[in-house]
Amino acid sequence: MKILLTGGTGYIGSHTAVELIKAGHEVEILDNLFNSKITVLDDIEAIAGVKPKFYEVDLLDKEGLDAVFAEGQYDLVMHFAGLKAVGESVEKPLKYYENNIGGTVNLLECMKKYGVKKIVFSSSATVYGNQDGVKLSEEMPVGVGITNPYGQTKFMIEQILKDLVVSDPEFEVAILRYFNPVGAHESGLIGEDPNDIPNNLMPIIMKVATGEIPELSIYGDDYDTPDGTGMRDFVHVVDLAKGHVATMGGLRPGVVVYNLGTGKATSVMEMVKMFEAESGKELPYKIVARRAGDLAKIYADPSKAENELGWKAEHTIEDAMRDTIKYLNHVRG
Ligand code: NAD
Ligand code: UFG
Repeated sequence: MKILLTGGTGYIGSHTAVELIKAGHEVEILDNLFNSKITVLDDIEAIAGVKPKFYEVDLLDKEGLDAVFAEGQYDLVMHFAGLKAVGESVEKPLKYYENNIGGTVNLLECMKKYGVKKIVFSSSATVYGNQDGVKLSEEMPVGVGITNPYGQTKFMIEQILKDLVVSDPEFEVAILRYFNPVGAHESGLIGEDPNDIPNNLMPIIMKVATGEIPELSIYGDDYDTPDGTGMRDFVHVVDLAKGHVATMGGLRPGVVVYNLGTGKATSVMEMVKMFEAESGKELPYKIVARRAGDLAKIYADPSKAENELGWKAEHTIEDAMRDTIKYLNHVRG
């Protein structure tokens, strides 16, 4: 298939590009390079043997987007592009609604115009809202207790896609709810290296390891979990990428929804200890107050993806730590 990846030079998109190329698909990438670097294309080529055609286009640029589709003749779009900093979304909600919702609407309009009717969308476990400590499965309610505009955009885009299918039943939509992506490609060539101060645990751990951030602040050790720190379902980014390839087998007219997670929750403190074990270095940290909006334990029931797509996360957190350290050594020399 000929596939357009919006946001394809980003963290999850670049790993998915590699897996799609390896599976024999033709990949093209559209990205405004707001949160990624063009050199990622060379890294994808080094790993997968093919350099994807690239368009530096913003999803808000309707004319630019139209030109990409006029040329592309795509069979399928995988839509990764979006802003994802939860804290920033609280401060700049309009920027998030404009970019994530506006960008998606422009994309869908173009897809409709050019008759491209298959889309895989990067959603998030955040749509499950404030359901805490229970294995989250796809049929559970979504949209209640979402604490930030970023999460709202994911919920709203899911709704937009569902409405689109009602209006045009030929559309084949897959909504993928990612849990907590971690790790890097085993080559160490691609991974996550945010330009700004990161929000997520693993990129912060990386910056503490390199000394760019003096210490990790652990947000609370008084949760109702075995060691008191928060627990999440950390899924290796290469498993996530393979989940996208598997999802193509599950597309059919209408909307399908899959959780992509491991089904296991690991605590923040366990992550620190595992990083120390893999790197052989002590990671300075301090316990601080809980972060607003955080829950104690979020983890997936991933059985639907396994039963229907034959997809299952295979990498361990140790793999993710090892690959992250390899990537860290690559980008920091
Ligand atoms: P990322 O920031 O590394 O990649 C997103 C890419 O989209 C970036 O390269 C950015 O430059 C591009 N982009 C943003 N707005 C754009 C626009 N208007 N036009 C064109 N390009 C644009 O993020 P990621 O971690 O790879 O996440 C990919 C998707 O998965 C996002 O939609 C994100 O919300 C979702 N997601 C991520 C996580 C996570 O923890 N990483 C969890 C759940 C869901
Ligand atoms: N944490 C710390 N210190 C930090 C950063 C994080 O202790 O400096 C803790 C958090 O309190 C939480 C855990 O590490 O317990 C994971 O936090 P992240 O910010 O890495 O991830 P979240 O689970 O909060 O959020 C992630 C994605 C969102 C997505 C959400 C869905 O970043 O995009 O999962 O549940 F919406």
